[in-house]
Amino acid sequence: MAKGETLGLLITDALIIKQEEIIPGFHRITLSAGEAAKNARPGQFLHVRCADTLDPLLRRPISIHAVDREKGEVSLFYRVIGRGTALLADREKGDRLNILGPLGKGFTMPEGNGGVAVVAGGIGIAPLYFFLQELSVIKICANVFLGAATKKQLFFSGGIAALGHNVFPATDDGTAGYYGNVVELFAQNLSDSVYGCGPAGMLRSLCQTIKKYNIRGEVSLEERMGCGVGACLSCACKTVDEEGNYRYSRVCAEGPVFPAGEVVWE
Ligand code: FES
Repeated sequence: MAKGETLGLLITDALIIKQEEIIPGFHRITLSAGEAAKNARPGQFLHVRCADTLDPLLRRPISIHAVDREKGEVSLFYRVIGRGTALLADREKGDRLNILGPLGKGFTMPEGNGGVAVVAGGIGIAPLYFFLQELSVIKICANVFLGAATKKQLFFSGGIAALGHNVFPATDDGTAGYYGNVVELFAQNLSDSVYGCGPAGMLRSLCQTIKKYNIRGEVSLEERMGCGVGACLSCACKTVDEEGNYRYSRVCAEGPVFPAGEVVWE
């Protein structure tokens, strides 16, 4: 949080502009939220109050998926996997949604002319799409390795190509692109820096690849959260610094994006 900002300033009742079911169980919600759109950085998240009632009490952390700063709009792409997200999926255009954020530490934007790759697994494309939007603003073309269980879960490949990036799909069942693991596909097409988000197993393997080939990398972690602002410690994950000191870092505050070499996979 920037100096002088208070939590109150980050809480907004945002108007829902659109609620779309991209495929069954995966939704994109677009909000009119001018301050959030202005301040959001790729990799940050909104802490969303899914219902107006006290049940469920806790907010849900959802990555910022896309931003239109001119229109003052922010989109979230989410999977319906529990009571909170099911309630969120029931919210309709014209409703108000209470959001807290943008929160957390996002991706470091690359500088210079080195090759940039993005590796996304399934719903992991959610924060990376915003990152790719920002890369195209600064005229960096990335190689995007888009992995999914099956073809219909290769989300937003057309939109990513329209932003000027190269899309390399991979599916576990071979229904589109490379038949196999998206990290394997990336390992055959290495770059100077890589940014990843996806299931834990995929991220672990991506971090191993980054270490093996000594390239720069950042990964966005997903963790259950309580407060979302660094106070409750419910989102701690084990990390190690450059001197080899282990500690517990708060995914909501020191993350959700971490340098790949800092994450300890146990
Ligand atoms: Fe409370 Fe991270 S969710 S410290």
